Amino acid sequence: MDPVRNPFAPGAGSQPPELAGRDEIIKDALTALKRTRIGRHARSQLLLGLRGTGKTVLLNTIENAAEEEGYLTSVIEAPEEKPLAELLYPRMQQVLRKLSLIESAKVKTHDAMKALRSFASVFKVQIGDLSVSVDPEPGVADSGNLEYDLPDMFVAIGTAAKAAGKGWCLLIDEVQYLKEAELAALIVAIHKVGQKQLPVIFFGAGLPQLAGLSGDAKSYAERLFSYPKVGPLDAEAAIKAIKGPIEDEEEKITSEALNEILKITEGYPYFLQEWGFQAWNTADKSPIDKSDINKATENALMRLDDGFFQVRFDRLTPKEREYVIAMSGIGKGPYRSSEVAERLGEAPSKLGPRRAQIIAKGMIYSPQYGDIDFTVPMFDDYIRRNWKLAD
Ligand SMILES: Nc1ncnc2c1ncn2[C@@H]1O[C@H](COP(=O)(O)OP(=O)(O)OP(=O)(O)O)[C@@H](O)[C@H]1O
Ligand SMILES: [Mg+2]
Repeated sequence: MDPVRNPFAPGAGSQPPELAGRDEIIKDALTALKRTRIGRHARSQLLLGLRGTGKTVLLNTIENAAEEEGYLTSVIEAPEEKPLAELLYPRMQQVLRKLSLIESAKVKTHDAMKALRSFASVFKVQIGDLSVSVDPEPGVADSGNLEYDLPDMFVAIGTAAKAAGKGWCLLIDEVQYLKEAELAALIVAIHKVGQKQLPVIFFGAGLPQLAGLSGDAKSYAERLFSYPKVGPLDAEAAIKAIKGPIEDEEEKITSEALNEILKITEGYPYFLQEWGFQAWNTADKSPIDKSDINKATENALMRLDDGFFQVRFDRLTPKEREYVIAMSGIGKGPYRSSEVAERLGEAPSKLGPRRAQIIAKGMIYSPQYGDIDFTVPMFDDYIRRNWKLAD
């Protein structure tokens, strides 16, 4: 059918035509935003899910909601390399610049700007913009220890935001890539603004291992955050995700075709978009039927193998590849680490560092002690289709 009208949006962070099955998460986020804004207790949230489940899309949705609720928002994606202080600095500066325009917040904003100046100097952040022409404030955010200085900054910004009658909503994607000390500092900072009932709220997103990482960084993290699970869509939501956009274009899809898509994609949002997209382009005419899906599957798999899966596989070293190939050789996950070791003919303890390295890269995670699984749904199938262990 006409590719120009194709409604589906496969891609990292692409807004889906129908954001299906996430009403609860969005409702909870909205409640937390509203409560925080009026100084009522609400938990910050860490959205946890595998690759391609729609975490980034949800963060975008929450950001928009936050803006509507009168928040200034700052969005960051944590990369594997850059320090958190460097990522946060320009965002905090931007928020303060906006607050400085509001008369009632001038004094508090000026204080926060001073603190920011100290913060930049102790963390050696390049100050590109000289508009922060204030002197640093001795004793605030200048210890050089992020765990003290970040809370100071959050409190200073929160105080200024409150004086302005605004809120500050910080959103960080890929939180699992933060260093442990950074995550700890972030947790302390969020704890601090919560205690002071300042209008500051945090939403993070990341891979499932983040729950454990945050607990390791600060044991009270599990009480501080709520951890909404961003999983595959249930059948009803998955059908809505495919059928809705097709019908909005005044076309049709048979229920057999829908069921086939559900079976293959297991309801994973990214795959739903990919299959919807290919099914639309493959079909000659409406309604899209099961034979169209069979052809679409070929195209979808080809595209995934050359893109989504391949780029992730390419990030592994030869030794790490050997490890994930051994995992997939066992079949469907989760896998016992000991079983993988056995397949590789190595002692499990010797493989520990390699396993940790692959976890740090975000390719695998440990759903429970001694087990591992892929963070990318259907990655095992991809490896079995394309790679095998060298003899
Ligand atoms: N609720 C949903 N319904 C339908 N499609 C969705 C939904 N959520 C996300 N998608 C689609 O899934 C794809 C992946 O979304 P997104 O990039 O937000 O996932 P992610 O969890 O951030 O993945 P990653 O961990 O790789 O960053 C996009 O193409 C998006 O349009
Ligand atoms: Mg994402």
